[in-house]
Amino acid sequence: MSEPSFSELDVPIDTNIEKEKPSSKVLRGMPDFFEIEATERGEQIDSDKNPEYVMINLDTNCGMQCPKCAEPGQGAAERGKSLSNEERTAILDLAAEIGVKELVVVGTGEPTKWNNYINQVKPAIEAAYERKMGTVLFTTAIGLTQEQAEFYRDHDVTVIVSLDSLDPANYARLVGHADKPGASNILPAVLEHIRILRETYAADSAQATADGRSIVRLGVNVTVQGANVDELEAIRDFAGDDMMFIANVLMPEGRARRFEDFEKLVGEKGLDALRKRAAEMSDTGGHSSLANEVCSYFNRGISVDTDGRELFCGYDSQTHKLGNIQDHLSAQEVLQRYQEKRTVYRAWCEQIGQKPSCPNRVEDTPGQPSFAEFLDEWRERQQPES
Ligand SMILES: C[S@@+](CC[C@H](N)C(=O)[O-])C[C@H]1O[C@@H](n2cnc3c(N)ncnc32)[C@H](O)[C@@H]1O
Ligand code: SF4
Repeated sequence: MSEPSFSELDVPIDTNIEKEKPSSKVLRGMPDFFEIEATERGEQIDSDKNPEYVMINLDTNCGMQCPKCAEPGQGAAERGKSLSNEERTAILDLAAEIGVKELVVVGTGEPTKWNNYINQVKPAIEAAYERKMGTVLFTTAIGLTQEQAEFYRDHDVTVIVSLDSLDPANYARLVGHADKPGASNILPAVLEHIRILRETYAADSAQATADGRSIVRLGVNVTVQGANVDELEAIRDFAGDDMMFIANVLMPEGRARRFEDFEKLVGEKGLDALRKRAAEMSDTGGHSSLANEVCSYFNRGISVDTDGRELFCGYDSQTHKLGNIQDHLSAQEVLQRYQEKRTVYRAWCEQIGQKPSCPNRVEDTPGQPSFAEFLDEWRERQQPES
């Protein structure tokens, strides 16, 4: 019997918020882009059968020190040896075999720093491109060059630039550099790199869909926090017509989880108010890859940490116990885990009586298990009795 679809679940969703205005843009590499492509081919996407995304955490470092930093994947246990480029390519081979369409690079550091770009980012994007996959790349753009911009443009890369403030002092504070020499020069450098990206991608950014929306290949991502919630309108205006505007609420992961006072980052308005404001303002209604009200990197994807351990989401630091993808590099096993994840998530939603768009962005409910705890219990129940 097939699983009930999310829309059939009788639980409230956390993003069902009236948006200020519908978006006229579709971001390449996102679920609605794939829907449009499939419709043009006369096909239908079946996410229960195949994932669309492979999130691979690269072992990249970063010069910023954002207190918010989710440090994708880190936190639960010591990491093992990082994957080599060849090992990552083997994972991309597997991903292609099971129908994945897009590589997602969220971190763990800054992909445009030259050493990261040359040693890991460029080879991963090239390998994905050779397997007919695009790449979604998250970056501050701090190290971006004209050469990089052209490489991204020519290799099907959707670039999502983090831009948490348009005020130089606030920007420096939010990237943890307020007291560093030259702090006020960081934002102008980032803005210049965004200009280069926009100019380089300009010729590609005017494609239209059948319903009159325009397909864009660049995005601006704001991590909504107390210190920038009042800047959302200005940043949305900055995104203009050629960049998708994504407002994403803060997740208590990585450094943000360990930060002495997570509430300080959230500010007086509280997480719920930030979440509501992000959903109202974001072109996507929330995260970049929302579909059916849930983040698709999670719900329609497989994720691998720097050392090859599978995660339920690249950001998640608590689901490492799934094992190392290299130990079960068979399409069938990876697909089984993918399908198990979707089943567990649905069961968890039923149990907690909510459908969070992201399991990492939901506050603990007294008496209810977190997603990671629920997963542990689920897996214990699946063990045959001795
Ligand atoms: C970890 S960063 C790595 C890439 C790059 N250094 C950057 O900051 O864009 C990937 C994405 O995660 C976002 N992010 C970081 N910490 C977060 C948090 N605690 N909650 C939500 N998003 C977060 C960043 O804004 C960025 O869009
Ligand atoms: S959010 Fe990005 S820029 Fe900030 S510390 Fe983390 S990896 Fe670096």
